[in-house]
Amino acid sequence: MTVNNNVNNQADTPKRIRIFDTTLRDGEQSPGASLEPEQKIVIARQLAKLGIDVIEPGFAISSPGDFAAVQQISRELQNVEIAGFARAVKVDIDAAVKATRDAARRRLHLFISSSDIHLDFQLRKSREQVVQIAREMVAYGKQFVDEIEFSAMDASRSGREFVIEMVEAVIAEGATIINLPDTLGYAMPEEYGEMFRVVRQQARGGDKVSYSAHCHNDLGLAVANSLAAIRAGATQIEVTVNGIGERAGNCSLEELVMAIETRKSAIGAETGIVASEIYETSRMVSRAMNFPIAYNKPIVGRNAFQHESGIHQDGLLKNRNTYEIMDPEAMGIPRDMIVLGKHSGRHAIKHRLNEYGVKLDDTQLNDVYDRFIAKADELKLVPDNVLIRLASETTEQQQDPYSLIDLQVLAGTQRSRIASVTIRERDSQQEQTYTGSGTGPLEAVIHCIQQAIPAAGEFEDLELHSLSTGEDARGEAVVSIVHNNERYRGTAIHNDIILAAAQAYVAACNQQLMSSQARKTTPSAFNKDIV
Ligand code: KIV
Ligand code: ZN
Repeated sequence: MTVNNNVNNQADTPKRIRIFDTTLRDGEQSPGASLEPEQKIVIARQLAKLGIDVIEPGFAISSPGDFAAVQQISRELQNVEIAGFARAVKVDIDAAVKATRDAARRRLHLFISSSDIHLDFQLRKSREQVVQIAREMVAYGKQFVDEIEFSAMDASRSGREFVIEMVEAVIAEGATIINLPDTLGYAMPEEYGEMFRVVRQQARGGDKVSYSAHCHNDLGLAVANSLAAIRAGATQIEVTVNGIGERAGNCSLEELVMAIETRKSAIGAETGIVASEIYETSRMVSRAMNFPIAYNKPIVGRNAFQHESGIHQDGLLKNRNTYEIMDPEAMGIPRDMIVLGKHSGRHAIKHRLNEYGVKLDDTQLNDVYDRFIAKADELKLVPDNVLIRLASETTEQQQDPYSLIDLQVLAGTQRSRIASVTIRERDSQQEQTYTGSGTGPLEAVIHCIQQAIPAAGEFEDLELHSLSTGEDARGEAVVSIVHNNERYRGTAIHNDIILAAAQAYVAACNQQLMSSQARKTTPSAFNKDIV
């Protein structure tokens, strides 16, 4: 990390926190987020690359697909510990034990509720009965697996003495890790930390086991509560990628890890997470689980490292530490920190145009700026293709190598979709029309543009966002292409989303061509490290 925030802190050696990822179990309980076994395997591979210590790949008893996914992940990922998840009943334990049999390292994760409300209304059992079940099931599981994690579900809303009684009972039967979940996301950080302190100190054998926190985010406190648990002695935190999970979700992996990383000495802890894999993991999970990431989500949200205010942009262009506490590139997040809108200043506009190799004198810059502000009022955010068009109008010279002149698409319910796209090439001043087909209109358009523009790079992603509602709603398209490990993103806004997507793709291609040209002529003009 290059960011120096210069805040004083504790000097002790940081304590190593184990990250237990339950995206594929608790995260999958998020409405609409269910995964095919093959998708789980792909995500689990990425979690291993991210440096997760323990993966909980699913709930083996819940379906043949989940059983198969847990089994396959246990077989394949020999460098990660695998948790087999089970209710405190024999059939669940048998399934979890069987599914994880081929793991190089495994644990059994057993749970039963500890709160009176769950006992009375859900389990319909007395406290004595529940302790007895927990005891018997831990002893049963221990015959097969050494490492037993026991979770007292709804611990934070349970009577303290009863949690202690239950924890003592399961430790006596061989539980090695005690998880005290805040199942409903109800706890305050002080209370949650205090529960860990009291249980560790007062439960017989409580100093012989390790502790885990599992926090839900109903009050937006999952990360704060997990940090409180770390301060109170927990050495494992259960998280999900993007904070996905039941209701408001679980403790977000990326937020927790980056809080620990960014404030390492204040928190006195560290993790084994490979920060540079965070963004890729987040995107993969978001796509596979059809779960969009809120724009303002810390770390991985699209706005998390973007600045629109002219004052901030000016500060950032001088020294990024003025308005940033983390370096997005260290998390694999493409650095396009400056979004252009009506609060942006001349400095930021000039900087963005320079990135494309477009140089303006002061008079031209003033002219572009005036028209830019008018555009910003209309569009709210000014995408790069529009900015370059403004520069072309000012200089009376087409600046982008290729521009989209016309687009026609034939869509329908039968047969493949057909498109034709007319593109003008700056250097030859020629216009040419290309035709293409695809299974959808967008694919057909993409095929046309690929014929027209010789940009290097793989089409990586297309995101469509609705910017307003109603029949004339405007959509924003963001297209990214990747070339030589560099990501080029083009954005465009229109109430025709196919046109917006086409313009965004052309913009991304232009960006790739213009930036490699700019780099060739003035290598320092494209130094992404602008500090
Ligand atoms: O939220 C919760 O309590 C859980 C446990 C079963 C670990 O997910
Ligand atoms: Zn949970």
